[in-house]
Amino acid sequence: MAVTIVIGGFFGDEGKGKIVSHLVREDSPSIVARGGVGPNAGHTVKVDGEEFGTRLTPSGFFDEECRLLVGAGTLIDPEVMNQEIEKLDIEDRIGIDKRCGIIEQKHINRDKKDSRLSDEIETTGTGCGPANEDRVARKLKQAKDIPKLKKYLTDVPKEINNAIKNNKDILVEGAQGFGLSLIYGTYPYVTSKDTGASQAACDVGIGPTKIDEVLIVFKAYPTRVGAGPFPTEMTEEEAQEHGVEEYGTVTGRPRRVGKWMKDWAEYAVMVNGATQAAITCIDKYDQRCRGITDYQELTEKAKKFIEKKEREMGVPVTLISTGPRNDETIDLRKEKL
Ligand code: GTP
Ligand code: IMP
Ligand code: MG
Repeated sequence: MAVTIVIGGFFGDEGKGKIVSHLVREDSPSIVARGGVGPNAGHTVKVDGEEFGTRLTPSGFFDEECRLLVGAGTLIDPEVMNQEIEKLDIEDRIGIDKRCGIIEQKHINRDKKDSRLSDEIETTGTGCGPANEDRVARKLKQAKDIPKLKKYLTDVPKEINNAIKNNKDILVEGAQGFGLSLIYGTYPYVTSKDTGASQAACDVGIGPTKIDEVLIVFKAYPTRVGAGPFPTEMTEEEAQEHGVEEYGTVTGRPRRVGKWMKDWAEYAVMVNGATQAAITCIDKYDQRCRGITDYQELTEKAKKFIEKKEREMGVPVTLISTGPRNDETIDLRKEKL
């Protein structure tokens, strides 16, 4: 596994939390470090019959040996962070970079009241955009300025680069999706930062020469929450016919659902230098695939779909998710890498 960055390929909610939770269960990495914008994300992890929705905590929290880090590039809402630390009982394992940007109530208010953001872009209303504006204006607080976070503060790049030196396995968990990238996504209908692999590496303080694998996660039926172009979008009736309706983890808003975006997937693989891909929700493409863990047991229909995507993208599809639980996964890394 070495140093692996996990990012989303479409418009977020591809199931990065699910994929990371599978990798943690399988490989027991020493560190899972969160990059990405901030608490606008919602990662769903289903382990041992329990479901967790986290917004800032890395998806390795269920492994008691795993060090959990939040990178300097990521924004923290101290209230959200503290609630998750308490609920997940990770006080002794979480480390927050002292330079993480801090979301305050005024940022949340601005995000919700500014009609450009709330009505036109349809942001998550979590304060991320206004906080990143203040960060650029050089007037944002950092984690080191917040007494309640003091006991968790650390230097994330130092911890990670030390672990790399000692040949430990490290997972970097990105958030959102490449279509929401401020730079490469469907501007202006995007989030407030780049969401690619290079940004995730920067978020946690790893140089480009230290990265071994970039795993890009796609879902069989891409979804999008909020406004913005979605060329393959289905009508609500079509989505219901396919049984693929979804609701947002953070906002509860219905997710718009579409079909696979071929050109975009290939572009995202290219710009992110992906070395492998994961495809989630294959059970939504063909319900007979639910829970399967052996590739040979997939239906011909599903195999054909996956093999076609693999040819088009030119990278191996190493992980196939057949349900939301972390053990509902086909892992082909040994065969394909
Ligand atoms: P962001 O960082 O917010 O983009 O989120 P994410 O990529 O971690 O995804 P999120 O957990 O928000 O959304 C994915 C949804 O699909 C969750 O409800 C998961 O439980 C679910 N899910 C993940 N993989 C599968 C799968 O293979 N099959 C099915 N049916 N559901 C899945
Ligand atoms: P913001 O990041 O809250 O400013 O929202 C900007 C756009 O990105 C909106 O369309 C949001 O719905 C979308 N977005 C931000 N974070 C996520 C995420 O984690 N999953 C899915 N969509 C997101
Ligand atoms: Mg999500």
